[in-house]
Amino acid sequence: MKYPSKVKIIDVGPRDGLQNEKAQVPAAVKIELVHRLQDAGLTEIEVTSFVSPKWVPQMADAAEVMAGITRKPGVRYSVLTPNMKGFEAAVLSNPDEIVVFAAASEAFSQRNINCSIAESIERFRPVAEAARAHNIRVRGAISCAVGCPYEGEVAPARVEMVARLLKDIGVQHIGVADTIGVGTPLKVRRAMEAALKHYAIDEVSGHFHDTYGQALGNTLICLEMGIWNYDTSSAGLGGCPYAKGATGNVATEDVVYMLQGMGIDTGIDLDKLIDAGKFISDYLERKPNSRAATALLNKRLG
Ligand code: HMG
Ligand code: MG
Repeated sequence: MKYPSKVKIIDVGPRDGLQNEKAQVPAAVKIELVHRLQDAGLTEIEVTSFVSPKWVPQMADAAEVMAGITRKPGVRYSVLTPNMKGFEAAVLSNPDEIVVFAAASEAFSQRNINCSIAESIERFRPVAEAARAHNIRVRGAISCAVGCPYEGEVAPARVEMVARLLKDIGVQHIGVADTIGVGTPLKVRRAMEAALKHYAIDEVSGHFHDTYGQALGNTLICLEMGIWNYDTSSAGLGGCPYAKGATGNVATEDVVYMLQGMGIDTGIDLDKLIDAGKFISDYLERKPNSRAATALLNKRLG
């Protein structure tokens, strides 16, 4: 079996993680988390979302958070932008990459962004165009790529269709997302194969929520396919407010521990990463939702 020799991890904790917290996390805490993640060696961080504060009040401080970050050379800072209003606000804070987010399920598209899949593509089209004109990279997410909280199982053909639509409007990279963590390895492989019909292997990432404890297995099967980009969340923070019961993304600590053990380079310092996860978990008054972090923190205590 041939695995990639290196993997790039996007830590989505400050965005996907903190969007789902009941209490408002102060901007200063979000900024500190971003600083700790970049100090740990993360080279891409999904910082925040320029979405409606009525829909997701947790991200209402997007501009403040972006303005407060001391940027580290070589790090890419990305933000979510569902429409031109979001893009126009986001561009003022100079992101390196924007993310448009579509779904492979109609019902989820309606609940999450209040429009059909086809309408969402028409909203994303000018966003992608404007981003390219500003030299900003454009990433896309495909939610519910294997299962939907409202529609149940999602066929790979749906993923292929959305991947094609995103490709047509100039989205450069796509994340295949198991929003509610129901995927198991063979289903995830089929969803990935569908996405790979339209995108090169370097331009597809895995975004696995770990609700059913399948995310490491799903990551492993994708590694076997040669996929080397993954979205993960420090301390396993997160979920989506429009996917009830869905827990966080797979913990960055767990993925880095697995990759280190396999001799795959991530450029991430696991100890510093664990400190970053502990920082935000302490703030939220809970234990990190990561088995590797828990084990290594216990080991530190001796
Ligand atoms: P809408 O209500 O249909 O929008 O929401 P609208 O265009 O009709 O505007 C209604 C109001 O919202 C107006 O304000 C707009 O100005 C304002 P009013 O006149 O009523 O005062 N508005 C905005 N304000 C700030 N920023 C904006 C914006 N757009 C409109 N960008 C909309 C449509 C997309 C805005 C809304 O549904 C929304 O914000 N949804 C965001 C949902 C979200 O953030 N979900 C979580 C992120 S996706 C995710 O987690 C999945 C992912 O992790 C992958 C996976 O795991 O699946 C990426
Ligand atoms: Mg997500």
